[in-house]
Amino acid sequence: MSAVTVGKFITIEGGEGAGKSTNIQFIMDFLQQKGIKVLQTREPGGTPLAERIRKILLDKTESTIHCDTELLLMFAARAQHLHEVILPALQKGIWVVCDRFTDATYAYQGGGRGIDKQRIKSLETWVQGKLRPDKTLIFDLPIEVGLERAGNRSDPDRFELENIEFFNRVRSTYLERANKTPEKYAVINAKPKIEIVQQDIANVLEQLVAKI
Ligand code: TMP
Repeated sequence: MSAVTVGKFITIEGGEGAGKSTNIQFIMDFLQQKGIKVLQTREPGGTPLAERIRKILLDKTESTIHCDTELLLMFAARAQHLHEVILPALQKGIWVVCDRFTDATYAYQGGGRGIDKQRIKSLETWVQGKLRPDKTLIFDLPIEVGLERAGNRSDPDRFELENIEFFNRVRSTYLERANKTPEKYAVINAKPKIEIVQQDIANVLEQLVAKI
């Protein structure tokens, strides 16, 4: 797969209660106000087929999904999403803001489920070729604070039912990845009040916009 792209590819990661949705709206508004054409999408999902795969993955009655099956379904959804939505947009010069991407696979299937990261890496290379996000924003929050903010969900999905140790492994994996290649990531402390968080986001986006 050729990764000749013109638009920037920004991915958004974070745990429960980190304010991902509110912050994505802020990012979209910020970029649009700069006159940038930008598309918002999400994973797993983003196309009709990938949204059907998402339903299976999040369905808590699917209690027998093997972790390998989960991993492959994530990448099956991703392949469809990439070819149908992400790559065509980037090739037209449209920026893409994606709510979760392959860092989530390293964090949840790698850190959370314990799948060897080399397996994830080989699927990443197969499905994405050279395509990697230009910047990944990680909204970081201690797990206990995030769960408290998210409140007791009345209808938790298959992932939200996981225990605190699982979420701590997810968080550590995100932070390890950001530490290894800091130029690719912006770890945003999601604990302070929203104005401060959004100032941090704006600083990151200003740098990205300045490069075009
Ligand atoms: P969301 O709640 O942020 O929409 O994400 C759906 C769930 O899917 C979330 O619990 C994280 C999980 N997920 C993975 O486990 N691996 C992945 O590769 C992606 C994209 C999401």
